[in-house]
Amino acid sequence: MTSIPVAPRIRIRGAAKRFGAVHALRAADLDVHAGRVHALVGENGAGKSTLVKILAGAETADAGTVEFDGRGVQLSSTSEALSLGISTVWQEPQLFDELTVTENIFTGRELRKGIVVDWRRQREEVGRLLDLIGLSGHLATVPVAELSIAQAQQVPIAKALAQDASVLVLDEPSAILTDAEIEVLFGVVRKLTARGVAVVYISHRLDELFRIADEVTVMRDGRTVGTWGIGDLTVRRIAELMVGGAIDEHVRRDAVPDPGAPVVLELDDLTGPGYSGVHLRVRAGEVVALYGLVGSGAAAIAASLWGMVTPASGRVLLEGRPVRPRSPKEAQATGIALLPADRKREGMFSFQSIAFNVSAGHIGMLSRLGLWFDRRREREVARSMVQRLAIKTPSERQAIGAMSGGNAQKAVLARQLVRRPKLLVLEEPTQGVDVGAKEEIHRLVAEVAGDGTAVLVVTSDLPEALRVADRVVVVRGGATTAEFGRDATQVDVLAAAAGDDALARGSRS
Ligand SMILES: Nc1ncnc2c1ncn2[C@@H]1O[C@H](COP(=O)(O)OP(=O)(O)OP(=O)(O)O)[C@@H](O)[C@H]1O
Ligand SMILES: [Mg+2]
Repeated sequence: MTSIPVAPRIRIRGAAKRFGAVHALRAADLDVHAGRVHALVGENGAGKSTLVKILAGAETADAGTVEFDGRGVQLSSTSEALSLGISTVWQEPQLFDELTVTENIFTGRELRKGIVVDWRRQREEVGRLLDLIGLSGHLATVPVAELSIAQAQQVPIAKALAQDASVLVLDEPSAILTDAEIEVLFGVVRKLTARGVAVVYISHRLDELFRIADEVTVMRDGRTVGTWGIGDLTVRRIAELMVGGAIDEHVRRDAVPDPGAPVVLELDDLTGPGYSGVHLRVRAGEVVALYGLVGSGAAAIAASLWGMVTPASGRVLLEGRPVRPRSPKEAQATGIALLPADRKREGMFSFQSIAFNVSAGHIGMLSRLGLWFDRRREREVARSMVQRLAIKTPSERQAIGAMSGGNAQKAVLARQLVRRPKLLVLEEPTQGVDVGAKEEIHRLVAEVAGDGTAVLVVTSDLPEALRVADRVVVVRGGATTAEFGRDATQVDVLAAAAGDDALARGSRS
């Protein structure tokens, strides 16, 4: 009697993983079947990447079991997982920029003719794979550094295909792809499942799951909440399961902004690279959150505010006057203060003291005589800011790079506030900072708005958007698609951002 393969290709039970005090995974179960696409969803930090790292042998679980075709396996290294045909495209793929696409794909497992590398066969193989994923075969010999971001993103997918995967894990492959590129990706995924490959697909774009997934497992706080057939779900239902019973935190500032306060920032039909037809208003004393999933276009809109990208059409009005900053410096000169997401690169001078960082760019104001830089005054301003922001540091002379993320972030913010800006734009202000510092930054945002400054918080952290903002404007596909007031719930906003069109149309303000 021939046996019917009833066992799933992969079965994970009770997977748990701690990183120090962080419980990344508490109890995760997952069944993935050959020839099917299994979507894994959950809010940021739910444990999705950790679970697939265990599957890929990149992390060892503290507890739990993994079965492959019904047999228990120990996956203690990525090469063991690879030998079973488990290939992973990581959320942040590591490519060697100076190497060609072919070299990236075959490094460490070169095809050989005798003892020499068979370059021709490698190139041909890569050409075929690139073809399959919708890229031109001639890119095989091009260094990765010369590819577009979207093209580079597909290289790890080609690499996974070269490994003849029986299980392919894709950790957020679509975050930065355009709709056309996603279509090609889905085409590849469908070809693979038709050949019997089991696919695990992690994504925050819930709407696209309805075009590709067979089953959906929802994760929350390191646990798998459950698994459903895609036909039993809607975007809204998934959003509810992701958020769970979590009560929306309405820990907001009490002050309600004056609806008649002057409009400080207005974006009027703004169109540029990565966004189009954007409308937005922020009044004096108001906190508006621009919320979108990674790749939504919210970051591009922010970049155009500080002159990093130039809008193609439409207007940016500051207190009613059109402005067109062409650099962060020009943006600052018009009264816009900025706290960029990548504070390491753009925001601060790590080797300099807090005093220097707080006062950087304010030399004119600080130098009483207008001729030379007044160090005593620099330290005075820094000390008062350190106090106001409750920055934990032994001295304002300490180098900023040596501070914790949260404190460094506050120091960079301090520098922006010295100028009393009309508009403060913060991008992912609490990314990577601890809970305490997060609270303080949120409190500070409320305080700055209380002083009459207009504040725009660009964030992909939903609880943050709801906590700090008087209004939440949702960005999806490069456009502002929905707007919510103080009665916003996590489920409503998440569903709008993740592609619930009914909700986007019926938006409230
Ligand atoms: N190497 C690590 N050291 C410490 N903490 C970690 C490590 N890896 C993950 N974590 C923490 O474990 C939790 C789960 O992280 P994980 O990356 O699995 O989440 P995720 O669901 O993939 O989130 P995202 O949607 O943001 O990618 C988070 O709180 C994260 O900060
Ligand atoms: Mg992840």
